[in-house]
Amino acid sequence: MASRSSFLTFLVCTALLAVLFGAADAQGLRVGFYKKTCPKAETIVRETVAGFVAKDATVAAPLLRLHFHDCFVRGCDGSVLLNSTKGRLAEKDAMPNLSLDGFYVIDAAKAAVEVACPGVVSCADIVALAARDGVELVIDQSITREDRAAGRARVVGSEAVANLPSSFGEITELKANFARKGLSAKDLAVLSGSHTIGNAHCNAFSKRLYNFTGKGDRDPSLAPAYARKLRSQCPRGDETSIVEMDPGRAVSFDTSYYVRVVNGKGLFHSDAALLRDKVTRDLVYQYTGSASKFFRDFGVAMGKMGSIGVLTGARGEIRRHCALVNA
Ligand code: HEM
Ligand SMILES: *[C@@H]1O[C@H](CO)[C@@H](O)[C@H](O)[C@H]1NC(C)=O
Ligand SMILES: *[C@@H]1O[C@H](CO)[C@@H](O)[C@H](O)[C@H]1NC(C)=O
Ligand SMILES: *[C@@H]1O[C@H](CO)[C@@H](O)[C@H](O)[C@H]1NC(C)=O
Repeated sequence: MASRSSFLTFLVCTALLAVLFGAADAQGLRVGFYKKTCPKAETIVRETVAGFVAKDATVAAPLLRLHFHDCFVRGCDGSVLLNSTKGRLAEKDAMPNLSLDGFYVIDAAKAAVEVACPGVVSCADIVALAARDGVELVIDQSITREDRAAGRARVVGSEAVANLPSSFGEITELKANFARKGLSAKDLAVLSGSHTIGNAHCNAFSKRLYNFTGKGDRDPSLAPAYARKLRSQCPRGDETSIVEMDPGRAVSFDTSYYVRVVNGKGLFHSDAALLRDKVTRDLVYQYTGSASKFFRDFGVAMGKMGSIGVLTGARGEIRRHCALVNA
């Protein structure tokens, strides 16, 4: 207990030091970065997200995924929020239909922040804050209070085109994809734990059920009973139905994803693939038994992800509306 809170203090101080000594970033999330310029920014975003989560807790998942997509495509620059314009196809309308959601929460948070401090807080930061707040709000309440406290603080650790990984990816591809973003195998293992919340469309995994290698076969890494259940939810050819990735616990941020992966019930091939590498497999097993380790590592990895390709100073623009570049 005592050592945990002093470690927390250490983390908070480190974050503050980064603020004090970091470059003057126009974009790029720094915890406390807006302390002087928009002291209410973090509270306003948190309250906006809390309002939406209270009405529909499933919105936490798309908010988290938005941050991931923002950071993995071109860096965390808020570009995921831009609408397509004549002659320019936006990320969100890009080919493998990304089925992203939660934009209305970002727009509402941005509008509220603009009222308090016009032109100060970047859209990328609003996405990062909303992702963090969404996760915090759905952290499993049955997990011990100390562990939740650790989780919150560590998720707050979010200090700050190549392609998005494929849900059919093998472990070597997934590791290489993360490595191109400066993220490690450990980051891959812990950030994949995001799939403890949210939904997926059948087309993200149906090949595993019907035609895994093109011979009408099933993915052997999928537990047979689970495969049967998925086949009933996603009949052959059904691309659009939706299933919970962590059935029955899809709005609870917890370690049950890892238990599922161990039991052959990771929904995507990319989830199952975590068992095929020593580093990621060991972490999967460790996270099944330790929510506090999962939360701690998750916060650290979110911080790394949240600083991918951040635009600094004049290279960034504080958009008035997150869907549009300023006129
Ligand atoms: C390891 C590589 C990853 C792959 C291959 C992957 C793939 C996917 C796919 C295919 C979906 C379902 C989309 C749909 O059908 O609607 C999904 C959902 C989701 N992913 Fe990932 N993902 C990965 C990593 C991550 C990371 C790093 C995060 C966050 C830090 C994340 C957060 C989420 C969330 C929260 C959802 C649920 C979204 C919702 O309910 O709307 N994923 N992911
Ligand atoms: C962006 O596009 C969405 C739908 O594609 C639309 O509902 C929204 O109003 C657009 N936002 C702006 C600011 O034009
Ligand atoms: C993406 O999906 C939405 C809703 O399912 C659909 O309206 C839209 O046209 C799709 N966009 C593309 C580029 O496929
Ligand atoms: C299975 O995949 C193979 C190779 O991609 C394809 O030729 C075949 O038509 C598929 N079978 C079905 C039933 O979709």
